[in-house]
Order: sequence, then structure tokens, then C-alpha cells
Amino acid sequence: MRVLFASSEVFPLIKTGGLADVSAALPVALAAAGMDMRILMPGYPDALAQAGELRELGNLGDPLGVGHESTLVEGRLPGSDVPVLMIACPALYDRPDGPYHDGAGQDYADNAVRFGLLSRVAAQCAMDGCPDGWRPDVLHANDWQTGLAPAYLHAWNAKDAAATLFTIHNIAYQGRFPKEAVPQLGFPWEMFVIDGFEYYGTLSFLKAGLFYSDTLSTVSRRYAKEIQTAPFGGGLEGVLANRAADLTGIVNGADYEVWNPANDGYLPHRYGPKTVETGKAANKAALQAEMGLTVDPDAPLVIIVSRLNDIKGMDLVLGVLPALLRLGGQLAVVGTGDKSLEAGFLAASRHNPGQVAVSIGYFESQAHRLLAAGDILLMPSRYEPCGLTQLYALRYGTVPVVHATGGLADTVVDTTYDTLVNRTATGFVFEHANVGALQWSIERAVSLYRNKRDWRRVQTNGLARDFGWGRSAEQYIALYRTLAPPVADQNA
Ligand code: ADP
Ligand code: GLC
Repeated sequence: MRVLFASSEVFPLIKTGGLADVSAALPVALAAAGMDMRILMPGYPDALAQAGELRELGNLGDPLGVGHESTLVEGRLPGSDVPVLMIACPALYDRPDGPYHDGAGQDYADNAVRFGLLSRVAAQCAMDGCPDGWRPDVLHANDWQTGLAPAYLHAWNAKDAAATLFTIHNIAYQGRFPKEAVPQLGFPWEMFVIDGFEYYGTLSFLKAGLFYSDTLSTVSRRYAKEIQTAPFGGGLEGVLANRAADLTGIVNGADYEVWNPANDGYLPHRYGPKTVETGKAANKAALQAEMGLTVDPDAPLVIIVSRLNDIKGMDLVLGVLPALLRLGGQLAVVGTGDKSLEAGFLAASRHNPGQVAVSIGYFESQAHRLLAAGDILLMPSRYEPCGLTQLYALRYGTVPVVHATGGLADTVVDTTYDTLVNRTATGFVFEHANVGALQWSIERAVSLYRNKRDWRRVQTNGLARDFGWGRSAEQYIALYRTLAPPVADQNA
């Protein structure tokens, strides 16, 4: 089966969050399971530079009238054989800052066209095949940046095109644009209706994906349920409830090639499940020195690797900080995001030298070192479609403290008397996203930390959990097969 996997970010070519991790590891796992995979993404200069030897597949013309022709270029995902198709159009994709917005956090003014083109090229390949003749059976589109792809297929009445699966990685980001984008992107006004991609007078890329794709998935079972309800659905809960029968939750995996303390090249000291105690102690001392924390083996080291915003519950962390420090804990943060939260964490580190250390920015290697050094990972997200950092933490023997939402609830098992005895406890889970509940979980975590035998048990349970991509990839394949049954089934 041939699958075109369309995404706006793919690790290590470009990454702002978990979507990039998934868009690399999942296609690789699917290819390993026998699928004929290709990834499609924008031709950001960093991506073109890192994708090995490039081959030009064909000219795409200027379908959206931006005044520049694009070409489709093929490279390889580093470390794999999976082809990556990149849309080379420097006028749209060569930007000095991030893939979506400038350094001040302002979305690029032409994002509708930038990701309209990505969607359109995906649809074109799904309908007519790529310029080299390869034609997918399934187009797997991800998040709002590719949401218009199934809408194009609808607009073109492309009945023989590839079937479409649209995966929601985060419903909070919807890609809404003024209605002028409708003709600009080549759509008829008939689709700008409530039973279409119109959302309160705007064109919603995400709603287009939800409405026009053949089937839908999201990245955990719990989130699949949550987004059909008002507090979580971001206004699209009605659309999703209508399509409930087509919505599957498939939990993300972790890429243990990249996230494995036994062969992690970013760590000063590598370790495995049997050496977690000594390995962690050595990494902890190194990180405390690196970040200017007091080198103290007994202080519980609490870590955060996250985008810094309220959705991730980072305001709760600032609220709970005095209590954490009273417990003798240290806090190390690597993150970037809202300026006010960045300032809050920086102020906390200035006021608590030796106890709080903060790196503002996106630092891949430091993120690995934090996971190896930390005793406790905090993820108090108000909602979290899946979350990957908690999966990485489990593999590094770092005990996660998480809010009971989305994939966090599906992947972390709270420590109680029962779960300690039956050896399922892997972390601490709290029900309500407020400072009091977070504080209570941190107190429970720190007191368990001081009881080395039980702490080791919880660490060991987490280390034994397998969140590799294999099982989830099988579920995606089963879903693809419902869309594009093998020929034998079609004849039956
Ligand atoms: P989200 O995609 O919502 O940000 P996930 O938990 O799914 O959340 O994925 C976050 C990914 O981004 C993880 O791989 C995490 O290690 C990484 N990450 C987040 N912030 C930073 C940062 N400041 N520096 C390095 N890596 C980061
Ligand atoms: C989004 C979500 C995150 C999820 C990731 C990959 O960024 O916020 O929870 O893990 O996508 O699916």
C-alpha cells in the first residue's frame, strides 16, 4: 500500500513540537511494516539542506498565483530510506525565523497561501500521482496546515483519488483566515458554508480537514473523547460529535532510536535499565554543574521540557514553585513560548540561584540531558492530545507528574498503594488542573523519592513499559486498510 504522509514539520529537518517527532518516527515505522511511504512537506531551507542528495521530480507551476513557480524535490529522511518530497518555493518557505511565525511570535501574513500550497500539492499527488508517476492509495494529512487537502479533492470532484485520513494532533491550532482566502486558494463559495469549511465567517483549514476527509484520527483515545465535548473541542466539538463513528484514537509512540539513554550521544553518561541509579546520579551532577544549580545528589531535581504557555499549565508551575523549593527540590527548565511566562521563569531563577535554572530557547541536546538528569518531570498540561515528553521520561527513569488529560491520562499510571503492589505505578496523576492539586502530587512524588525502595519500583515499572511505535503503526495500517482495502478484499 502506498501512503503519502503530509506534514508541516518533520524531525530532524524542522521541529517546533511533537508533530515533528511523530512525522518522522511514524512513517519510518510504517515503512518497516511494509508500507510504501513518502513524506510531503514544505521546502524550508533547513530541510532541503539536510535531506541528502536531492532529485527534482517536476515543476508544479504556480497554481495559487503567488508569482513564483514551485518545484517538487525528493530527498531522504536522515537515518532512513523514507523519501521526503519537499515543495521548493523560496518566496513562501525561506523565512529567517520559525516555520509559522517570526521571532516576535507574529504569524506570517501569507500563511494561508504557504499551507494552502502544501495542501494543494498533497491533493494533486492524491488525485494524479506525483510528477514521477507514484500515486498513493491513502493520503494521510496532519493538523491544520494540511487540512485543505481533502477539501481540494472535494472541490475537484476527484472520485478516483487516494482515500484521506486526517489526524488531529492539536485542536487548539485551527488555521483560520479571512474569507478572501476562499477564492485566492481556488475554492468555490459553495464550500464556504457551515456544512463545509466556514467557521464563524472565517475559512478554517482544520474544519476543512475534519469535514472533508474520509476518516479521522487523533493521538490518544482519551483526547478522541474529550474533543467531542465543549471544554476541549475548541468550537469544533459539534463537527466531531457528528463524525464520532469515523474518529479513532491511536496513541503516539516514542522513537527509541532517538530517545534511549543507553545510546544517547547528547549525554555525558549513558545508562541502561540496570544502571539507572548510578547513570542518573552522574548525569544529575553534570547537569547541576552545567546549569548553575547546587550540586546535591539528594535534592529531588524536577525538570520541565516544554513550550511555555498556559495550555501546558506553566502558570501552575510558577504558582507551585515556593512549595517545591520548601520541599528541598530544584527546578531545571528548558522551554520557550509566551514572553510573560519566560520572564516569570527567568525571574524565579534570579531569585533562587542554585535552586532554579532556566534555559529559554529551543535546545535539543539540553532537552536530552534534562531527561537523563531529572528525578521528576512535570507536565501539568490543561489538555494534552498525547504528549511525548512523558514517554521519553519513562524511558529515562524520570518519574512523570501529569494532569489527567488526553494522552497523559492514557500513558501514566498513578502511584497508589494498589498500583505499587501490582507493579503498574509509573508516575503521579492529578485530576484537576490547579496549583493545589499539582502541589499535592509533587508532595507525594517527593516523599516517595525519599523512600528509595519504592522509588526504584516506580522507575523500574516505567522503564519496562514499551511505547515504541510498533503497536500504533499496526493500528494506522488497519485504519488505512479500511480506507483502501487490499485488492483481494475488494473482489470479495
Ligand atoms: P507539543 O507537541 O504539544 O509541544 P509533545 O510532548 O508532543 O508536546 O512534544 C514536545 C516535543 O518538543 C518533545 O520532543 C520535547 O522534547 C520537545 N521540546 C519542547 N520544548 C523544547 C525546547 N525548548 N527545547 C528542546 N526540545 C523541546
Ligand atoms: C501536538 C500535541 C501533543 C502531541 C503532538 C504529536 O503538538 O500538543 O500532545 O504529542 O502533537 O501528536
